[in-house]
Amino acid sequence: MSLLTVDSIKKYFPVKSGFGKPQNWVKAVDGVSFKVKKDSVFAIVGESGCGKSTVARLILKLLSLTDGRIFFKGEDILNIKGEELKKFRRSVQIVFQDPFASLNPRMRVVDTLSEPFKIHRIAAKHQIKDRVVGLLEKVGLGADALNKYPHEFSGGQRQRICIARALTVSPELVVADEPLSALDVSIQAQILNLLQDIKKETAISLVFISHDLRVVHYLSDEVAVMYLGKIVETGETEELFKSPKHPYTKLLLASAPKIRAKSQELRVKSQKTHNSKLVTLNSNDAPSPITIPAGCPFHPRCPERLDICDKEAPELKESGGRIISCHLY
Ligand SMILES: Nc1ncnc2c1ncn2[C@@H]1O[C@H](COP(=O)(O)OP(=O)(O)OP(=O)(O)O)[C@@H](O)[C@H]1O
Ligand code: SF4
Ligand SMILES: [Mg+2]
Repeated sequence: MSLLTVDSIKKYFPVKSGFGKPQNWVKAVDGVSFKVKKDSVFAIVGESGCGKSTVARLILKLLSLTDGRIFFKGEDILNIKGEELKKFRRSVQIVFQDPFASLNPRMRVVDTLSEPFKIHRIAAKHQIKDRVVGLLEKVGLGADALNKYPHEFSGGQRQRICIARALTVSPELVVADEPLSALDVSIQAQILNLLQDIKKETAISLVFISHDLRVVHYLSDEVAVMYLGKIVETGETEELFKSPKHPYTKLLLASAPKIRAKSQELRVKSQKTHNSKLVTLNSNDAPSPITIPAGCPFHPRCPERLDICDKEAPELKESGGRIISCHLY
């Protein structure tokens, strides 16, 4: 059984429309499904605005679903209440992008990290300080951090504190929403190594959200590529990076310079002209999730599009160990 099963979830946000006009919706997440195995890292990648954080918030029950279901250890999270809900809140933790905004500036580290122990009553009072010091050491900080406030730390150290806070309650699943993108590049590698160590030492599963494909390649076991609220390709990370199938996945990889192998340079043969050209992704071309193109939502940017592509939306189907939504497969 998978730890987390996300089944056809949707989240539509209402947007202001003029008086007398029909209600408009942002289809932030529009029928997303995936499974996260125990003790594994499942990555979600895609450009800004494709719905990654909305998926994270739905998993955490921080937002209500428009449609679909989410199961944690086989239990529909919509139905869990009371003691079960408390247990769920403990088992599933989140690490956000901005470590400064997610720490209370008036709380010392010792108080921030003691709080979950007290709320969830998971350690006797006299043990809490030792547990907090143990956590600080686990994330590469020492006992001298105990009495400091968030502003006394660097960005990377603050993210270490946020990771320590997520670990206080021994979660089974941590959702990390762009945990590196607010940090300097030199610090990113350190935090990435920390996450890798935690993954090796504990049986925690991770949903790792990022637009940085190099990081995803390094850390994840499986990856889902999102485009305008939908998953367009899911597969085992090594396989997907070795041979991307969906034209959008190919473009994402081709646009990430450091993982682009010569052989992977995207020379796409146009079905119409049969000319081959080098293509990369221009984020200025990204369409709005309010006016999603008809047919395949990617068709206006797709260098491999077919005649059918602006008319019919492709279904998600299995093809060679991948789940993929594209008329080419
Ligand atoms: N509360 C909200 N009300 C209205 N629209 C929203 C709300 N939250 C998100 N959206 C919209 O939903 C879409 C998806 O947003 P989301 O934050 O999930 O994207 P993302 O993939 O996390 O982007 P980024 O990489 O920039 O963090 C965006 O168009 C966003 O503007
Ligand atoms: S369905 Fe058509 S437009 Fe969409 S990705 Fe596939 S080839 Fe491109
Ligand atoms: Mg986001």
